[in-house]
Formats: sequence, structure tokens, C-alpha cells
Amino acid sequence: MSQIKKIGILTGGGDCPGLNAVIRAVVKTAIVKYKLEVVGIKKGYHGLYHKDFIPLTLENVQEIISEGGTILKSSNKDNLFKYPIRNEKGDIVKKEGEIIYEDVSHVAVENLKEAGIDALFILGGDGTLTSGRDFARLGVNVIGIPKTIDNDLSCTDYTYGFDTAINVVSDSLDRLRTTAKSHGRIMVAEVMGRGAGWLTLHGGIAGAADVILIPEIPYDINKVADKIKGDFEKGKDFAIVAVAEGAKPKDGEAVILKVREDSPDPIRLGGIANVVADQLEELCNNEARATQLGHTQRGGSTSAHDRVLSSRYGCAAVEYAMQGKFGNMVVLRGDKIECESLENVIGRGNKLVPVNCELVEMAKAIGVCFGD
Ligand code: F6P
Repeated sequence: MSQIKKIGILTGGGDCPGLNAVIRAVVKTAIVKYKLEVVGIKKGYHGLYHKDFIPLTLENVQEIISEGGTILKSSNKDNLFKYPIRNEKGDIVKKEGEIIYEDVSHVAVENLKEAGIDALFILGGDGTLTSGRDFARLGVNVIGIPKTIDNDLSCTDYTYGFDTAINVVSDSLDRLRTTAKSHGRIMVAEVMGRGAGWLTLHGGIAGAADVILIPEIPYDINKVADKIKGDFEKGKDFAIVAVAEGAKPKDGEAVILKVREDSPDPIRLGGIANVVADQLEELCNNEARATQLGHTQRGGSTSAHDRVLSSRYGCAAVEYAMQGKFGNMVVLRGDKIECESLENVIGRGNKLVPVNCELVEMAKAIGVCFGD
């Protein structure tokens, strides 16, 4: 049994539904079952560096299980191992046009010691948990809890936030279908997920998309157009296309919206739906419209499935901390919650859709085109 008395908890990277449900489960398990103290660290690693800590009590976590977002707030710009130097006004300092970085992780380690925090729970995706692994290497008692609507973290079947986002995508495609039918249009919906197609694949199947384009399967736009024209010849007069923001044509690249040089994850994808809609309008000789589902996929209330998964992860994280199993991330394998070393989770890189997986084969069997 480990001797921990005070848990610190932070949420890093892009927010997603389920973070609050995890925070609630951690606080409740820690206080009710083990009589530990819990400290909330505001805005992810930003608060860890600036000592922005608040006590978390049972009152703080009342009525938050359903709320998306994070009561602790989040930041996706604060890699303390590669921290941009700022001037007194808070502006990033540049030398010959280049940002200058320093490693300030030791400040965070000191802050944790000073606050008496003996276990650090990190709720994040691959960027946030890469720093988590690095803090574990420095001897911090880290437990990772896998967040992201992208579902692209290795070693776990599902991340929380993913199910809620699938429901948003599926609901959005249902809404696009009714207007597509009225006008006989091709509707192209752009789905988040960075370089992984999980959200587009699941959301596209659930929302009955005719075409699903994902980064793992580069597409030929002519094949997509042939599929839609073929359906039109058989009497259908509308089409729903779900395209992942990271999808790319054969011999082409993903569409980049902008590069954010102040972020550890500088590439912001976006804009492919417009490209695909324009091409299909011309090739199919039929009106097409593009819709970016954007951050609606990360907002709103948390699905019941994510509430349960988050509660399981949060509770298990406390149990693993009590057993002294640090340097790990809680994972879901089949129907079991287990833990896996952060070294493996990060070392294996992002989890991508296997191109011949059962879900892709099933979708193809029911007539979905992947443009391959
Ligand atoms: O990783 C989650 C995610 O929502 C991605 O799907 C998306 O590409 C990215 O974050 C968007 O980031 P931001 O909120 O910084 O625009």
C-alpha cells in the first residue's frame, strides 16, 4: 500500500466531455474511500508552473458528471520541458525570428513538493501525457488518464470523450441528411480527429454516410464521384460524405488551416470539406455543400457511456495510486480496466485505424465508399 496523502489533478490539451466525470470520480474515491486530500491544478501545466492550485472537495464535484469541458480549465500551449521564454508583458521572446525555449520542468517538480502533492494525476491526450511520461522519468508519481475525442492513444481500446463526439457526428449527419434530401445535394461533413480516422469512421457509420474518408486510407476523388454518380443513376438524389480533417488524397497532403508556432502541436488541420465539396460538385454535376463540425464535437453534455467510462478510469486511477503503480496510464482492454506504462503508451505512437479492420470491412460490405 502506498503512503500517498495528497493527489494533484490537472487537465491538459484540448478539452473533451468526460474530464469532469473523471475529476468527480477521483475526488470522491480519494476522499470517501481513502480520506486523501485532492488539489486541482488550474489550466494544465500552466497552473503547475505558476502554482495555481485549488483544494477540491466533495462540494466542488457535485453536479458535474454531465458537464462537458473541465472545471479545472485546460491549456494546450504549456510544454514545461520546452517552454517559450516570455518578456515581462507575457509576449514570447524571439531571436532572429526563432522562439527561444527553456526546460522549466524542475520548477513544476519543486512546486509539487512545496504543496505536498505526492501523486500527480494527468488527464490528457498524447501531448499532455508525453510530458507526463517525462515527469515520471524525473521521479514524479504520475498516473495518466486517457482523454481525447480522437481515440488515438495507444494501449487503450477507448478514450473518454470519444463516445460523446461520435454521437455529435452521428446526430449532425442525421441533420445534414434531411436538408440534403430536400435539395438533392451532396453534403460533405468535416470531422475532427487529427491524423486518426476513428471519429469519422464510427460517426460516419452511425450517421449512415455514403462515403467515409479517413487519413489511414488515401482516397481517389474520382472513385468517390463514381460511387455518388452510381447511386444517383439508381435513383438516389442526395449523398452524405464524412471526411476526416486529416484525410488526404492519393499522392496528396492533408489540408492545413494554420500553423500555431506557440503550440507544442503546431499544425491545425481544417478545410478539406470545402475542397472535397468543390471537386464533387464539378465531377458529379450536382450541388454540394461543406460543413465543418468543428468544436461542437467537443462540447455539450457528456454521453452516459463516457460518464461510466470516466468514472471507472477515475476510480481505478486512485486504486493504482494507492497500490503505488506510478508511471502508468489507466487503460480499457475489452471490458477490463488495467494499467499500462506511459513509456509504452507514448513509445508506440498514435493508434490509427487498421485499414482492413472489421469495421472498415463491414462498412464496405454495406456499400460505404472509402475512395480506395
Ligand atoms: O485532439 C483533439 C482535437 O479536437 C482534434 O480533433 C483537433 O484537430 C484539435 O483538437 C483542435 O485543436 P484546437 O482546439 O486547438 O483547435
